[in-house]
Amino acid sequence: MRIAGRVKRLGGETAFAVSAEAAAFAAEGNKIYPFHLGDINMATPSNIVNAADRAMREGKTGYCPNAGVPRLRELLADDISRSHNVDYTMENVSIQPGGKPVIGKFLLALMNPGDEVLYPNPGYPVYESQIEFHGGRALPYGFVEGTENFELDMDTLEKQITPRTRLLIFNDFQNPTGAECRIEDFERLAELVIRHDLYVLCDESYFDVRYKGKSISLVSFPGMVDRCVILYSFSKKFAMTGWRIGAAIGPIDVIEVITKLNVNDESCTSHFTQYAAMEGLSGDMGEVKTILSALKDRRDVAVDLLNSIEGVRCFRPNVTFYLYPNITGAMKKKGIGDYETFRKTLMRETGVSVCTRLHFGRAQEGEGEFHIRLAYSGIDVDDIREGLGRFKTFIEG
Ligand SMILES: Cc1ncc(COP(=O)(O)O)c(C=O)c1O
Repeated sequence: MRIAGRVKRLGGETAFAVSAEAAAFAAEGNKIYPFHLGDINMATPSNIVNAADRAMREGKTGYCPNAGVPRLRELLADDISRSHNVDYTMENVSIQPGGKPVIGKFLLALMNPGDEVLYPNPGYPVYESQIEFHGGRALPYGFVEGTENFELDMDTLEKQITPRTRLLIFNDFQNPTGAECRIEDFERLAELVIRHDLYVLCDESYFDVRYKGKSISLVSFPGMVDRCVILYSFSKKFAMTGWRIGAAIGPIDVIEVITKLNVNDESCTSHFTQYAAMEGLSGDMGEVKTILSALKDRRDVAVDLLNSIEGVRCFRPNVTFYLYPNITGAMKKKGIGDYETFRKTLMRETGVSVCTRLHFGRAQEGEGEFHIRLAYSGIDVDDIREGLGRFKTFIEG
């Protein structure tokens, strides 16, 4: 077949490719310590599962409105209005089959071919892929290692802006670094967005995956509610990655376009799944809290062990379930100079499977330090201990 040219610009989420490699290695009888994929090995809370079961038995198995079930849109508008100190109604909400589809739909709604889009790099790889696939120019901005965590590199971000820059993709509570903005970053970012007349995709997939403190959104800053579309995801907070449900939340004119894209793509998000999501928003939070508490324990075990390894330096982020340690010294000690050799040798010799910087957007010129990403959402504490113990022996001998 003659495949269309635009497909050449389509990237992938290469963490899934690492999963396939790890699965093949496991099928040969090897034990894998799965730190590579941001999936959760804990069950969706039972009240949510029961709500879906009830909805299916009650016949919520046909099509439903393209923008989503009105009650879910209302609940989400109320929930986000409360947490973000804004005033959304259900008209500001379009339910989606996952958070991910919001990325492409946001770009289709607001980006013309040739427009420039700022995006985080290292960052979720789908941004770069979708910007380029839809004919935009992807302008990377990065994160620098601060004293306690990674910090948004505002200077680079600002320097990248040209008269053709139209959009900003912003992922606070960031995958892969676990970075989060400080108040002064938000203020500077909001000022910059207004000055350059930008529209923003606020990817808040990890807004509620927090162990300490309180999440703040760019949307809450003056002038931002009319310029931002929130990518909301049920996947991580409610351990619902496989259910495929999320939402776009933003100004009504753009939400209407996004819903029109729903009509053309999937018609509607799975009907009964939306009842499960309603239970998530309005039902008992006991099991969600248990999941968060387990994730926090895993984080602490993993961070302590990583920092005990020679040549490894790791922050302890209060958000997300990712760690992004600097392994420059460890690679030097092993005499390995490139990411793929390191990753593959580590997996073959220890079973520890990770992603590297290469899985989070095209590496930029002049990057001198090496980082890997570990997700601790899909691996129990005992295996974290065992796996990172093997990692330590791999590096230190
Ligand atoms: C930063 C970020 N955005 C969006 C998504 C998409 O999540 P989902 O489509 O499951 O809601 C992910 C998933 O890992 C992510 O890490």
